[in-house]
Amino acid sequence: MSPETGAEAISPATGAEPAAGAETAVTLDAVEHVYGGTVHALGPIDLALRQGEFFATIGPSGCGKTTMMDIVAGLTEPTGGEVVFEGRPVRGAVPEGVGIVFQDDASFPWLTVFDNIAFGLRRLGMAGAEVRDRVDYAIDFMGLQGFAKARPSELSGGMRQRVCIARTFVMEPRLILLDEPFGSLDQQTRILMGDELLRLWRETGATVLLITHSLDEAALLSDRIGVMSARPGVFIEIVETGWPVDRDSRMASKDEFGQVTTHLWELLRGESMKAMGDGGP
Ligand SMILES: Nc1ncnc2c1ncn2[C@@H]1O[C@H](COP(=O)(O)OP(=O)(O)OP(=O)(O)O)[C@@H](O)[C@H]1O
Ligand SMILES: [Mg+2]
Repeated sequence: MSPETGAEAISPATGAEPAAGAETAVTLDAVEHVYGGTVHALGPIDLALRQGEFFATIGPSGCGKTTMMDIVAGLTEPTGGEVVFEGRPVRGAVPEGVGIVFQDDASFPWLTVFDNIAFGLRRLGMAGAEVRDRVDYAIDFMGLQGFAKARPSELSGGMRQRVCIARTFVMEPRLILLDEPFGSLDQQTRILMGDELLRLWRETGATVLLITHSLDEAALLSDRIGVMSARPGVFIEIVETGWPVDRDSRMASKDEFGQVTTHLWELLRGESMKAMGDGGP
């Protein structure tokens, strides 16, 4: 990639470059991953996420989405290429300013809701009063009032996932990575959680990278949706929705929403069939 423009390697045909004038939060430059020298899981991928955008990635099962997220998070070293977050290469550790929400409920069962949300702040050595302020605010914001002293086992699945999201957002990440965060929730809860995620995104101004299996969720929440091919996953198209910032799930009743989901499915259908016939490396 050219250090002058930072965008030479990105193909304009895919729409993978940020808009002129937009600040770039994260760049993936020819990022590729091969597991064990044989399973070509991902890429090469070129992508630039704009500062503060909501970007979703959809793609057939096994196409390398989680692999991509783990690489962006610094949890997996790519076998090729490089990720740059805020101008610094991501290598070997989760960078400061990056928050992760995993698919499965990752709350600590032995801690209360309050202590779960406070966990990361306390590890940073933050003073008790500030921890309390931030955690109380997060509990309020996520609709968990009255449950500060409850343990995760006393909560519903949706509430537990809200604890996990609160625990990540309370750290005030500038980039938040979510891998199928609502995968285990029922449809109505998923939709409401999506609205909450949008509210948090607006409030914090963070850049969001969301991985989801749900075309509707991707279409509803995102500024842009990267559609991946079957493994090894590369972006076959990046769809710009053009939704207003103050959107919510009521978007789903609009004609434009139907057009976006139809287009996403057209792109994904063939790839999903390829992925289902995928026998090996
Ligand atoms: N640790 C690993 N060792 C070897 N192969 C792996 C490893 N992790 C993932 N893979 C393989 O890499 C490919 C991509 O996996 P990945 O988990 O990134 O896909 P995904 O798109 O997240 O799938 P899903 O939608 O089902 O979550 C798959 O073929 C998977 O079997
Ligand atoms: Mg995955």
